[in-house]
Amino acid sequence: MRICCIGAGYVGGPTMSMIALKCADMRVDVVDINADRIRAWNSDSLPVFEPGLDDVVRQTRGKNLFFSTDVDSAIEGADIVFISVNTPTKTYGYGAGSASDLSFVESCARKIAEVSKSGKIVVEKSTMPVRTADVIKTILASTGKEFHVLSNPEFLAEGTAVSDLENPDRVLIGGDESSPEGRKAIEELASIYARWVPRERIITTNLWSSELSKLTANAFLAQRISSINSISALCEATGADIDQVARAVGADSRIGSSFLRSSIGYGGSCFQKDLLNLVYLCEHFHLPEAAAYWRAVTDMNAYQKRRFARAVLDSLFGNIRGKKLAVFGFAFKENTNDTRESPAIDICGDFLKENANLAFYDPKVSAEQIRSDLGVSAEDPRVEICTSAYEAANGAHAIVLLTHWEEFKTLDYSKIKESMCTPAWIFDGRNCLDHSRLIGLGFLVRGIGKGNLP
Ligand code: NAD
Ligand code: UGA
Repeated sequence: MRICCIGAGYVGGPTMSMIALKCADMRVDVVDINADRIRAWNSDSLPVFEPGLDDVVRQTRGKNLFFSTDVDSAIEGADIVFISVNTPTKTYGYGAGSASDLSFVESCARKIAEVSKSGKIVVEKSTMPVRTADVIKTILASTGKEFHVLSNPEFLAEGTAVSDLENPDRVLIGGDESSPEGRKAIEELASIYARWVPRERIITTNLWSSELSKLTANAFLAQRISSINSISALCEATGADIDQVARAVGADSRIGSSFLRSSIGYGGSCFQKDLLNLVYLCEHFHLPEAAAYWRAVTDMNAYQKRRFARAVLDSLFGNIRGKKLAVFGFAFKENTNDTRESPAIDICGDFLKENANLAFYDPKVSAEQIRSDLGVSAEDPRVEICTSAYEAANGAHAIVLLTHWEEFKTLDYSKIKESMCTPAWIFDGRNCLDHSRLIGLGFLVRGIGKGNLP
């Protein structure tokens, strides 16, 4: 059995590494048109930072896992081809700003049609709008060869990808359940996962249910964050504490406690684009009320980011021009180097509009990435990239914590306080620090939804 995966990104790389680890008898080729990315996958410095991933790649690379730019040969030799390319929000033409740009997926389908000498199983691993499989099927059908298209969306979260892949809540496979050939293809893919995932966690559905379930799962997760964030605003107005409210609400087993951490808003490459895609689909199918419902989740997220930036400005007397703000964390969440849609980008963008001086420290995000996300040059005197949190805080008026990195919890805040201007502020955008202790050290502290802070 040979597997090929087109797209060596945050999903393709880790997912295929795990399949290679669990299926030593299979050859797995991960291919990409981005030569730099492939070079990094073949080096000691992987393009994706994920706890535990280096180890998985070390055990498999060069044995049954191969990274290459030779897309054609890998497809030609494979029995199963995964499509794991990016499906960003369309930025042009019809549906710009909400529909998915499927041009990368379509070019994969065309490439598979062009180079395949025989039929294969083609698996949608990327997140696709419902009914995208029709596009792929139509292109492949034109070859006259027997292809089977399956949907197998990925549910891993960045920062925990390896454990999510090793021990998934479920594996979802959508296919043509109504024909014997369709059922055979579903079983072929299911049997790969069944090497390490208990059968009862492998869910099979029709194609459209599988495609739509992925968008729905992300929409529900994002909705929980927007829901708790909306309540955080009310906490600040009333003296309630969002963490206490989240704990009390989440203790109800029907509601559950996960994904109730109030924050500066969700980030990451997928929640926003998948929600926008859901909105687009609802509009496309003439369901404006359903579209408006999901649109509100994204509006709340934008509001939360704006609200936080504004709170920093207001606390610093409405003036941050020329003041140094130490920004702790830039990644969209902890344990990843990914900054796509990071709330830090919009929040720091607001600070720069006020002409603040920003000193950044993130343990994994490069200086080039931060500057590129903010659209500033290396010469811009307002932006400094530091190699430690202490360096960033030195001489600052305020610390603005934007990513929940574990190391921020164990810093010597008494030493930091000494090095800062007074009054020294901490704005904890993730509610991850010990606020009473910081207040005891003399900091002025503002968290999210902490109406009870002095
Ligand atoms: P990514 O941008 O990190 O990687 C996609 C890769 O595909 C890029 O390296 C790009 O060069 C390559 N590519 C694009 N067109 C190609 C082509 N025609 N031939 C060969 N390579 C091509 O994206 P990602 O984060 O890995 O996401 C991929 C898909 O998985 C998206 O649909 C996303 O919604 C979904 N997803 C992502 C995550 C996540 O945590 N990032 C989780 C679940 C699902
Ligand atoms: C999310 C989903 O959790 C995955 O199941 C899905 O596969 C993936 O999107 C995808 O389709 O790309 P990811 O974006 O990597 O994974 O990370 P999450 O842990 O979901 O965090 C997303 C954002 O929400 C982060 O900015 C995080 O800080 C924020 N968040 C998360 C909160 O603000 N509060 C919470 O309680 C949880």
